[in-house]
Amino acid sequence: MTKSGETVVSGPGDALWYKDAVIYEVPVKAFFDSDNDGIGDLRGLISKLDYIKDLGANTVWLLPFYPSPMRDDGYDISDYRNIAPEYGTRADFRLLVRELHHRDMRVITELVLNHTSDAHAWFQAARRAPHGSVKRDYYVWSDDDKKYAGTRRIFSDTESSNWTWDPVAGAYFWHRFFSHQPDLNFDNPHMLQAVLRNMRFWLDMGVDGFRLDAVAYLCEREGTSNENLPETHAVLRRLRAELDRHYVGRMLLAEANQWPEDVREYFGESDECHMAYHFPLMPRIYMAVASEDRHPVVEILRQTPEIPASCQWATFLRNHDELTLEKVTDRERDYLYNAYAADPRARLNLGIRRRLAPLMENDRRKIELMTVLLMTLPGSPVIYYGDEIGMGDNIYLGDRNGVRTPMQWSPDRNGGFSRADPQQLCLPVNTDAVYGAQTVNVESQLRSPSSLLNWMKRLIAVRNAHRAFGRGSLVLIEPGNRKILAYLREYLDETILCVVNLSRTPQAVEIDLSRYAKRVPVELTARTAFPPVRDTPYFLTMPGYGFFLFRLSDESGVPEWREERVPRVELQTLVMPDGWATLFGATSGSNRVRQALADRTRAQWKREVLTSFLASRRWFETSGNRSPVIEILEHAEWEVGGRSWLLALLSVTDGGEKARECFLPMSIDWGDTDDIQSGALRPWALAYVRQQDRVGLLYEAFGDDAFCHALVAAMAVGVELPFAGGTLRLQCNAGVSLSGDDAAGPIRRLLAQRNDIGIFFGSTLYLKIYPAPTAGVSADVELGRVQSEVAPYASVPAIVGTLALERANGATTVLGVLQRVVENQGDCWDYTIEYLERHFDDHAQSATLDQDTSGPGMDVHAQYCLLAGRIGQRTAEMHLALAAAGEGAALATEAVTAPDVEAWTLQAVTELDQVLAHIRVQGQRHTAVDLKARGGQQK
Ligand code: GLC
Repeated sequence: MTKSGETVVSGPGDALWYKDAVIYEVPVKAFFDSDNDGIGDLRGLISKLDYIKDLGANTVWLLPFYPSPMRDDGYDISDYRNIAPEYGTRADFRLLVRELHHRDMRVITELVLNHTSDAHAWFQAARRAPHGSVKRDYYVWSDDDKKYAGTRRIFSDTESSNWTWDPVAGAYFWHRFFSHQPDLNFDNPHMLQAVLRNMRFWLDMGVDGFRLDAVAYLCEREGTSNENLPETHAVLRRLRAELDRHYVGRMLLAEANQWPEDVREYFGESDECHMAYHFPLMPRIYMAVASEDRHPVVEILRQTPEIPASCQWATFLRNHDELTLEKVTDRERDYLYNAYAADPRARLNLGIRRRLAPLMENDRRKIELMTVLLMTLPGSPVIYYGDEIGMGDNIYLGDRNGVRTPMQWSPDRNGGFSRADPQQLCLPVNTDAVYGAQTVNVESQLRSPSSLLNWMKRLIAVRNAHRAFGRGSLVLIEPGNRKILAYLREYLDETILCVVNLSRTPQAVEIDLSRYAKRVPVELTARTAFPPVRDTPYFLTMPGYGFFLFRLSDESGVPEWREERVPRVELQTLVMPDGWATLFGATSGSNRVRQALADRTRAQWKREVLTSFLASRRWFETSGNRSPVIEILEHAEWEVGGRSWLLALLSVTDGGEKARECFLPMSIDWGDTDDIQSGALRPWALAYVRQQDRVGLLYEAFGDDAFCHALVAAMAVGVELPFAGGTLRLQCNAGVSLSGDDAAGPIRRLLAQRNDIGIFFGSTLYLKIYPAPTAGVSADVELGRVQSEVAPYASVPAIVGTLALERANGATTVLGVLQRVVENQGDCWDYTIEYLERHFDDHAQSATLDQDTSGPGMDVHAQYCLLAGRIGQRTAEMHLALAAAGEGAALATEAVTAPDVEAWTLQAVTELDQVLAHIRVQGQRHTAVDLKARGGQQK
């Protein structure tokens, strides 16, 4: 509520915004100096908001910017309601909030409840106020320094006691941190009211959330550790109730450096904080990478209790403090010190005062791996400013200042942070050879597409495109290889698989994904489809520190290059006492038992074997859940050179739809079934067959080289077989010379085609089979005929032969065409889609550089346009050749009229509009358009 009493909603959108937040932690002091006094300021920060937005962060966490003696970098606050003059004014702050909200971003500020600076007016009044007075009791006093003896010292390197003598008060005051930071007394209801008023002051200014600093230590009780006390939780409930009563969409984030079960308490029953840092997870990520073993991370995630549905963890790798090792065992701490802080200067209190890049020895692969974990484990990630460019630290500076040096914007003076005299700066800019601003800076990284900064942007874009990361459940998978950390993030109907190699060496891993059998893993950064998941463990090989993020898609196609189909469940065995004849009821003799056996085999073949075989074919799409009804319309045996095949024409009725025909030639291999199972025939298999003690495999004959050769040889000489009341005609086109030898080259098959089966004979011939053909004129055949018989044209593959069924009524159904192969590197459609994807990715990066690479005089598409021009020319040449076919042919020419051109233009413009609208919509969630998926639909 504002002063006028209405409820205040922060920014637009969802009250659970913090679940999808990517938080960027910013020190105003060290970010950007707009007035060149050597100290960063609010206006400087405002000028850099586009940078933060562009990185993909949607929330800014501001370190303290209040008036302060700056003896704890601003956490020693002397006035809660003002802005330190060196940073700006309240008007600047309001402008900052407006600018953030305008960009659909949020702001989190610090609510330092536990203590103030000793310069705060409250403390100055308290030390002078009479014993027992309300004013005095704003703080915690004692006549001696013996009370609360069971309390640990947090700043153990600098403070020898939690009590400090105040000569003015004539008493000791309590402090959990520095001796100039007296702790507030939450047993004093007046003080609590004052804190609530301060909270509302900033909420009314538009702040979206508060980080509740050092929130575990608010209350004190003798005989306890004075951490996580029930009284402290009661204070938090009070704060939350006040927030909920007056405001919507605001958030409290607990800084409670505690064990998981203790941190859990800070969410309460959704009546304390909305968020809490996952302090226990952070050091264990470092531990897992150092020990190349997932155990520390898996273990702490297992120990992490469930949190209420509206709550969220904040995950982080580094922040403005030392990397705290308070909540690890002594043994773990020793291990981490040895691994990450061999130099004692890097240690502070119970922690390590280093930034992420130096901790990772500036190994880009390790930095990426850590960042992937940050972006994909449960919680909203917090990025510490400068870590996105791999900034270093300066361990020669005191306290934690080494990790708080100015942001490195460019190789210019003071790293582009300020134009002031270098000696005037709030802290020196890093200048060392490896991490100094001359080497590590935003400007140069924006220019390099492969920089850490641009890589991070891409990763954050992936995170922002999938709500499963912020809101999804976590399922840990534990493959045998412990160097691999694998987990699923699931939200609504989306499942994302994250696999991370924690080791420096290449690793292989088998992951049990059988629950997701048949889904296709689509890699999230490049949208590349991987082979589908099966019932058997999914096998991945990974480079050292490699990672994969996959969407387990149930609608994406398997990769085009994949030459093996998803194997179906266990093959059944058909007992065929009479060979082929068993399948069609032409059983010899009158033995009723044998007859019954044959009937059973036939029913099994139709209902089970064919149904599951068809379901596994990519060209066969069912429309409903019902099993299709299959009829055998015709069958015939075809014998060539001692081999025999069965040719069948099926009618398939699916979910009440019109029946479709399927052409299915079959072969039997009476070989060793073990060979068969693992061999090349596996993808074509229908069933095992047994005749007495002979066992073999029944399979689709297109997997049989002899059958494929026989087809070409038959086309070369022309063969007619009586079939389905008509004729199955194999022939070559007039004027074409074809011989069986043309098909001599090694056979290669394309199995993942959408509508057909492709068979290459060496590099000369290509047989395209339509397993579910449509009746009537075949465009392929008609075009091919004209091109080869009437108007030969070299740039289009000539059709040399056909396999067609001529019905009794004269209608023709083309079952396959044989083409000459024209060498190529793929098709123009795929080339264009991939080209555009690359272009959009590049453009997304160059847009932030303000470098328009397509400026005047630079045609970035020149190369592509050349190709497009060539395609246009070849198409025109082909049409010219077709036009030569003359009047009367099915492809007779028609004049292009002005309305035609108008209609085509309109269609092109409409389609473009639709694509652009789609890009705009998607652009809000995705950085690049998933053109591949769209392409798949339109193809
Ligand atoms: C929090 C802050 C830290 C500060 C301490 C005392 O832990 O993160 O920087 O020194 O509180 O205010």
